[in-house]
Amino acid sequence: MNAMTRRPRALIVYESMFGNTEHVAAAVESGLQQAGFDTDLVEISSAPAVLDTDLDLLVVGGPTHAFSLSRAQTRAEAVRQGAPAERAEHGLRDWLASVHPDDGGGPALAAFDTRVTKVRWLPKAAGPTAVRLAHKHGLAALGKPVGFLVDDVQGPLLEGELDRATAWGRQLGAVCQQKV
Ligand SMILES: Cc1cc2nc3c(=O)[nH]c(=O)nc-3n(C[C@H](O)[C@H](O)[C@H](O)COP(=O)(O)O)c2cc1C
Repeated sequence: MNAMTRRPRALIVYESMFGNTEHVAAAVESGLQQAGFDTDLVEISSAPAVLDTDLDLLVVGGPTHAFSLSRAQTRAEAVRQGAPAERAEHGLRDWLASVHPDDGGGPALAAFDTRVTKVRWLPKAAGPTAVRLAHKHGLAALGKPVGFLVDDVQGPLLEGELDRATAWGRQLGAVCQQKV
């Protein structure tokens, strides 16, 4: 990116069965905008197959299912627990396995997940899996993935988590611009 000629660009791709990760993604977007980024926020079913060359940062976020990114079976289980059926069709795991940067290298990557309070201490969650998968495709993470807490499977997010997400977005934006 040439900071002298254009504003930095970020794409935020999220998966969300009950809406909590979607809220976090929107808060992260807001933080990135405060840091001076132009942003696009897309739900996983609308995510592009090829990443634009002028993308500076890709942020991915998803719910933790069975200590990892969701799979078709876990999304089906979420539907059984009340999530909209159309949200079960696409997952971040499959998108990360197929997406590739356009010629000339990829953007920096950052990942987050949502997880329930009761298992907050477990090291295995969706964010670290997303970083590993993206790394296989040549996308290097800017820092460690971050987990945001929900009260139970359907939510809600714990108090203060959206503010934390916005602050994380601002911080990501600042770190990303220092690297270019
Ligand atoms: C099938 C299934 C498995 C889950 N497994 C875990 C888990 O291993 N660890 C965890 O912290 N939360 C787990 N959860 C809770 C989800 O993390 C929670 O539903 C999610 O963060 C809510 O985000 P969303 O509203 O964006 O879907 C699971 C939820 C479902 C439906």
